[in-house]
Amino acid sequence: MAEIAGKRIVLGVTGGIAAYKAAELTRLLVKAGATVDVVMTEAATRFVSAVTFQALSGRPVWSSLWSDENRSMAHIDLTRGADAVLVAPATADFLARLAHGMANDLLTTLCQARDCPLLVAPAMNRQMWEQPATQRNVAQLAADGVAVLGPAAGEQACGEVGEGRMLEAQEVFDALVAFVQPKPLAGKKVMLTAGPTFEALDPVRGLTNTSSGKMGFALARACAEAGAEVTLVAGPVCESQSSRYAAKRIDVVSALEMRDAVLAALPGQDVFIAVAAVADYRPASPSEHKIKKGAQTLSIELVANPDILAEVAARPDAPFCVGFAAESRNLAEYAEGKRKAKKLPLVVGNLVQDGLGGDTNQVTLFDATGAHPLPAGDKLAVARGIVSHIERLMKCPE
Ligand code: C5P
Repeated sequence: MAEIAGKRIVLGVTGGIAAYKAAELTRLLVKAGATVDVVMTEAATRFVSAVTFQALSGRPVWSSLWSDENRSMAHIDLTRGADAVLVAPATADFLARLAHGMANDLLTTLCQARDCPLLVAPAMNRQMWEQPATQRNVAQLAADGVAVLGPAAGEQACGEVGEGRMLEAQEVFDALVAFVQPKPLAGKKVMLTAGPTFEALDPVRGLTNTSSGKMGFALARACAEAGAEVTLVAGPVCESQSSRYAAKRIDVVSALEMRDAVLAALPGQDVFIAVAAVADYRPASPSEHKIKKGAQTLSIELVANPDILAEVAARPDAPFCVGFAAESRNLAEYAEGKRKAKKLPLVVGNLVQDGLGGDTNQVTLFDATGAHPLPAGDKLAVARGIVSHIERLMKCPE
């Protein structure tokens, strides 16, 4: 379950075709345990009926400053105690009114009168988005501390293609969840490695492993949610994995490339989390051309790769270093051995049969005070647990 259960969100809906996505967004939020108070502009009610939002949120839907909801102070009351106001979709007109401090309907008025964070997900035709006036308004809102989510580029309702599409409901949901998480790593820089490495044998073949990168990507997301500036050094992972949470992503193939990328980005990092399943060995002399079959046996000489984590941890200016130990047996013994050998404050251990390649994981955290198992769960939930532990250790080193 996303960590938004128990939060109260005021969802503003303005008049654009993307208003239908707000219905799906309401469903996602309610399913995750949030309370959603929907406020529609008059124009929004032309696109989607208030009854739809009422049914999905299970709560009254608000649209007028005046008496129709029988609550004269809705513009104040609705945001009191709310965790965030999210306006999705936010039209060019709404953004303009907001940027200029106008309060000429219930939604703009409650945005002005709020005492909680405000997020907007713009949605409009690409020309409207590109207008200098819209860009000025969005820049002003960002400068005023409003979080701007998207927009995305792609096909638009009008048939044109360009920037201005509202993010998909799931993306807005994910961004909101990230936004409301505690920010214990605010101001910190975190670098992670993720995925496998690929060690070339010839131009088309190589040695690799079954690491999917999912745990590393989930940890990158959890660190970003916790407020860190994330640099993600990724081995060859599946294209579909999103790294939009990372401020910087560096794609590499081999262990040597990973090491170079890590060392280059190391200055200024506060935390280094080595999640990657780095190949321990690489072919000593990869063939320039494809190796032809014929011989009954083929010997390949392997040489050891550098241990990136050990190298980083041994530096005098080492950041807080976290290692992973994926074992097929004797987890505690091997994980604790690695922690001591590489002089790490924390090693995250898991049995390969519990995590490698899958969507869930079960890990035990090994630090100077002992072994701390985390509940099994999806990799993002596990990643959030690891981040909380890192944050505690950084605050109170043993
Ligand atoms: O010693 P072992 O390879 O099992 O340690 C695993 C940990 O070390 C992981 O955190 C992994 O990312 C890191 N590692 C590394 N460079 C290597 C091998 C492992 O950074 N060459």
